[in-house]
Amino acid sequence: MNTRWLQLRMFSSLPEMPATNFIASPYKGTDYETIKLSRMTKVTPSQRPFYKKPLLIHEGHGQWLWDHTGRRYLDMFGGIVTISVGHSHPKITDIAVKQMSKLCHTTSIYMHPKYHEYVDKLTAKLPDKLNTVYLVNSGSEANELAFLMSRLYTGAQAIVSLRNCYHGGSYATAVATAMSTWKYPMAQPSGYIHVTNPDVYRGSWGGSQCRDCPISKSRRTCECIGQRCIASEKYVDDLHQVFRYTLPTNGQIAGFIAESIQGVGGVVQYPRTYLQQVYNLVKSKGGLCIADEVQTGFGRTGDNYWGFEGHNIVPDIVTLAKGIGNGFPLGAVVTTKEIADCLNKALHFNTFGGNPLACAVGTAVLDIIDEEKLQENSKIVGTHMLHRLSTLMLEYPTIIGDIRGKGLMIGVELVDDPDTKEAMSADNVAEIFEDIKDMGVLVGKGGINGNILRIKPPMCVTKEDVDFTVEVINTALKKYRNSHIEDKESVYFSGV
Ligand SMILES: Cc1ncc(COP(=O)(O)O)c(C=O)c1O
Repeated sequence: MNTRWLQLRMFSSLPEMPATNFIASPYKGTDYETIKLSRMTKVTPSQRPFYKKPLLIHEGHGQWLWDHTGRRYLDMFGGIVTISVGHSHPKITDIAVKQMSKLCHTTSIYMHPKYHEYVDKLTAKLPDKLNTVYLVNSGSEANELAFLMSRLYTGAQAIVSLRNCYHGGSYATAVATAMSTWKYPMAQPSGYIHVTNPDVYRGSWGGSQCRDCPISKSRRTCECIGQRCIASEKYVDDLHQVFRYTLPTNGQIAGFIAESIQGVGGVVQYPRTYLQQVYNLVKSKGGLCIADEVQTGFGRTGDNYWGFEGHNIVPDIVTLAKGIGNGFPLGAVVTTKEIADCLNKALHFNTFGGNPLACAVGTAVLDIIDEEKLQENSKIVGTHMLHRLSTLMLEYPTIIGDIRGKGLMIGVELVDDPDTKEAMSADNVAEIFEDIKDMGVLVGKGGINGNILRIKPPMCVTKEDVDFTVEVINTALKKYRNSHIEDKESVYFSGV
């Protein structure tokens, strides 16, 4: 037992992990130290593992993961929002094995039934006009292709994205991404505009009532007048000004890309009517509206199958990845026939996109989400979690600055000062993060300061799992408060 664990035990009886009937196999692979050395010496250092003592995970089932020692973890991050229906889902395994033994690869130069079964099923989930699919292997590829289509279709160049967004790591998507932590010091090509992020917690306008979240715990009250969201109007006006001063008179843009809720950026939700108004503005500038549903798609936000539906908008292009394949490399660009036709101006090819195996897995994922009612589960369990977490905000007013999200896409923003909103320092976040892991729960981190706990588990998690997670976070925060800020908190409460 390590010292961190002993320290944790001193502060509280540790929360008990919900049981599972699944028995993981014992790990018999290469030993931990050899793998760690390989990681340090043979793998690009940019692929940094989480945690001071990196986890060696060898088996998964549902919402559970097992490390090399046989220790079980509750996975509340789903391999970065990618395990949508649960680890090693038996139906997917079965279908993948059958398909693998029959036909794994052909490329799109031939037809094969799985491709067409899949695109039929996928488009049936989307608004009617989004009826044409290009299958790829990742979110970056999907967004890169969406930019290309926008430029070809409109004849304009500018891709507009929100500050604090993440849209991928390939050349164009990394430029559209607007977070310094993801930028290399190299020349940025022209044709990209980053605009004010309509963040109602950190931005200039808005309060927690402005966003579509079952709890409204942000300390900032909003200026909404009845149904009129003033913050939304101000952020839209800001965008209007950017267009006015940046573009030539009557200038066009190629496209506007946004997630329905920012993921890597730290679960940032925009004021309710913001995207609707922006879509109208973008259309008036001749641009296409791209919804990056890489994290928010496939029922994760609970109320809707697609995040954009929660904003009452219909995009021109939707990009999909991550949860689409439950861990299998699959991505998609879905658009109108008219827009898709612009790619006919040259040849465009993708070797693996839509191979039979990927399509078989993608079809199974769509079926499982419906059969197991995972969208409904996201809503019920996610809402339960947000309510449970909101009690922690009252308990730790100097540590938790904001709690937000929808369905199973939840963020807990940790601060060093709740009044100035100074982000919690990286070392302090790391301590809490490590303690949460030591108690058996894996969550993610996000935001430009890395101070937002990201909770985006496989959509099969239960209320019991959520209660356990909240207790674990509670214990980690209690330990942190006792060892760091007891005095500060008493000053905060006494109003001195
Ligand atoms: C919203 C969003 N778009 C695009 C991407 C890029 O996806 P990929 O890593 O599959 O290229 C990510 C990855 O985290 C993402 O979160």
